[in-house]
Amino acid sequence: MPWTCADIPDQSGRTALITGANSGLGLETARALAQRGARVVVACRSLTKAEATCQDLAGDGGGELIPLELNLADLASVRHGAAEIAARWSAIDLLINNAGVMAPPRQLSAQGFELQFAVNHLGHFALTQQLLPVLRPGARVVHVSSGASYFGRIAFDDLQGEQRYDAWAAYAQSKLANVMTALELQRRLDAQGAEVRSIAAHPGLARTNLQPTSVAARGSRVEALAYRLMDPLFQSAAMGALPQLFAATAPAAKPGGFYGPGGLGNLKGYPKACRIAPAALDAAACTRLWDVSEELCRG
Ligand SMILES: NC(=O)c1ccc[n+]([C@@H]2O[C@H](COP(=O)([O-])OP(=O)(O)OC[C@H]3O[C@@H](n4cnc5c(N)ncnc54)[C@H](OP(=O)(O)O)[C@@H]3O)[C@@H](O)[C@H]2O)c1
Repeated sequence: MPWTCADIPDQSGRTALITGANSGLGLETARALAQRGARVVVACRSLTKAEATCQDLAGDGGGELIPLELNLADLASVRHGAAEIAARWSAIDLLINNAGVMAPPRQLSAQGFELQFAVNHLGHFALTQQLLPVLRPGARVVHVSSGASYFGRIAFDDLQGEQRYDAWAAYAQSKLANVMTALELQRRLDAQGAEVRSIAAHPGLARTNLQPTSVAARGSRVEALAYRLMDPLFQSAAMGALPQLFAATAPAAKPGGFYGPGGLGNLKGYPKACRIAPAALDAAACTRLWDVSEELCRG
């Protein structure tokens, strides 16, 4: 039997924080968890977007919705948002690191890091570290990655693409970093005996704002055409959100696992365990990435 939103266990009394909750997969994840009774912290890069999303989702009924401003391209905003959450609630049950940007021309975050590395990886890394103390036993951290992780390489000698920037290589690097962080975090949690699961997920190909935003940022007609031709391969945002919802709530989702769509080349379909990129299985590289990320976040 395929796993669907109907299989999400009752989430009453649980608190979930979702980054990038105003659009695409994040929005569908927020909707599904709120409908199952979770209190959902709708974290968006602006408070206006977060409030508008809460208002929209409130129409569906379900758990309490809390807007939060959290700009992952600014570590000060991440610190501020995490502190606000920790102060208001001493317990988070689900942290879903979902927000992302894909293949823009080279841009820098507030602290001068390459935007994709900053938003997709470093901002979430910092957020997770700051919320670890308030994760309740039984909590889960979900890292939303991509099939691009299979093509990724961590350029330790040029993490910020200063010497050479290829937008797609930088995206793949950041998405590989998500899986490596998921695995390294699980090892660290296990070493501490913490009852927290760290799990990675990817949506296959889902129709969201990710591709149009990327095409607009690069102004590439070829890419726009390619997406039109590839359209039959894409699934809905609601289907694309299932692997991360599975990772967040299914009793069968394993610590240190990676879940994605089980059909057609893992591009679409219902959630299934999927293969982890060999580069992420290099534990020494995962530890190195963790240490470098800690240092960069310290500033
Ligand atoms: N859709 C796919 O086919 C696909 C495939 C593989 C992986 N993914 C991954 O899935 C995740 C969700 O993407 P999506 O497809 O749902 O795309 P989306 O509709 O574009 O949503 C991305 C979300 O990330 C937010 N975001 C971007 N920069 C941010 C920042 N600096 N601070 C805070 N939030 C920021 C966006 O906010 P704004 O609305 O303000 O821009 C938006 O809410 C991403 O991590 C992406 O890499 C998607």
